[in-house]
Amino acid sequence: MLEGKKILLGVTGSIAAYKAAILVRLLIKAGAEVRVIMTPAAKDFVSPLTLSTLSRHPVVMDLVHENTWENHVSLGRWADIMLLAPLSCNTLSKMASGNCDNLLMAVYLSATCKVAVAPAMDEDMWHHPAIKRNLQILTTFGNIVLPVDSGELASGLIGEGRMMEPAVMVDWLKDYFSNGKPLSGKKVMVTAGPTYEPIDPVRFIGNHSSGKMGLAIALEFEKLGAEVNLIIGPNSLDIPDSLKTIRVQTAVDMLAACKSVFPTIDITVMSAAVADFTPTNTSQQKIKKSNSTLSIALTETKDILKYLGEIKKPGQLLIGFALETSDEENYAKKKLVEKNADLIVLNSLNDEGAGFGHDTNKITIFDKLGNAQYFDTKSKKEVAVDIVNSIIQLL
Ligand code: CTP
Repeated sequence: MLEGKKILLGVTGSIAAYKAAILVRLLIKAGAEVRVIMTPAAKDFVSPLTLSTLSRHPVVMDLVHENTWENHVSLGRWADIMLLAPLSCNTLSKMASGNCDNLLMAVYLSATCKVAVAPAMDEDMWHHPAIKRNLQILTTFGNIVLPVDSGELASGLIGEGRMMEPAVMVDWLKDYFSNGKPLSGKKVMVTAGPTYEPIDPVRFIGNHSSGKMGLAIALEFEKLGAEVNLIIGPNSLDIPDSLKTIRVQTAVDMLAACKSVFPTIDITVMSAAVADFTPTNTSQQKIKKSNSTLSIALTETKDILKYLGEIKKPGQLLIGFALETSDEENYAKKKLVEKNADLIVLNSLNDEGAGFGHDTNKITIFDKLGNAQYFDTKSKKEVAVDIVNSIIQLL
């Protein structure tokens, strides 16, 4: 339930603003404390009196009241979550660019709580690249973008763009607040680290993966309540005992571990740098120097992500990585399709602070609808938060 949860509702100028009244009523009924901020345009669509009566608190709209500056900005510190519903195209654009021309924007820009938005617009507007870009920008700020519904729109058109129904939004908030663990009950598998393919008892083919990115993702999932299975190649990381961990050496071991865990899994993130080739034969004895050159026959390993993409069932989410050094976006998009993944997380070795070994990474996330979310260079912990947020949005 939402008992005692402090919800700051931002209402903007959209036909769907009438639904804010229903939303406030449901939130209060669920035990939440609600404060409402409206943009000046919103009052053309729903009366402040209605919202203040339902929320049992005055609705605020202006930074200045009767020649006195009112510090409503502190509302962003009071709230457990700030929810902008409906979010109009105009306010979305201001949020993306940091425009501060009304109280709602001042509160948003200074809010220390989590921010979620429920967009509402006409279908053609919803599909405009500017809207997609602005929503992606919001995601990179760590804001949560709730999905829109399909159906009859104010314009008379039928299509995507309707604001999420208030009752569904309340259920979403209940999930969100379930001990701050929105992923409780979800089973997750994360692969991480390199694989080592043995040439002989002392040598192997490996790569520079440290496993740090995969571990950060696993820990973020665990923090949000998921039951996590980490399948990790050789590394020197300290892995907390709380994580159910299968340690593997080779690509064959990793495949076997994934096969055994995958059937009951809801979300899989394949961040491991699996060797693409393994020695066709492993020498039982140390190979001695005899010639000045040595040729080792290699056999391609099975692509685990691709295999899981072939057997995944409806409802199972599959997220892959793409580590590239050239033509990055094209290769990443190709991997998304060829491996039947739901998201591909691209990191390029050309970006400073990205890829192997660093404590930072710089990623772009591609989805099946052709959207790309670009993120700045961040610590791997923060990157893990962005990746898991994007997955939560898919859920
Ligand atoms: N992957 C896998 N099994 C393999 C090779 C890769 O599961 N044998 C997964 C990785 O975990 C990653 C994704 O496939 O999620 C892409 O890996 P990457 O190394 O970027 O690309 P490859 O598919 O190996 O292709 P290439 O090396 O040609 O770029």
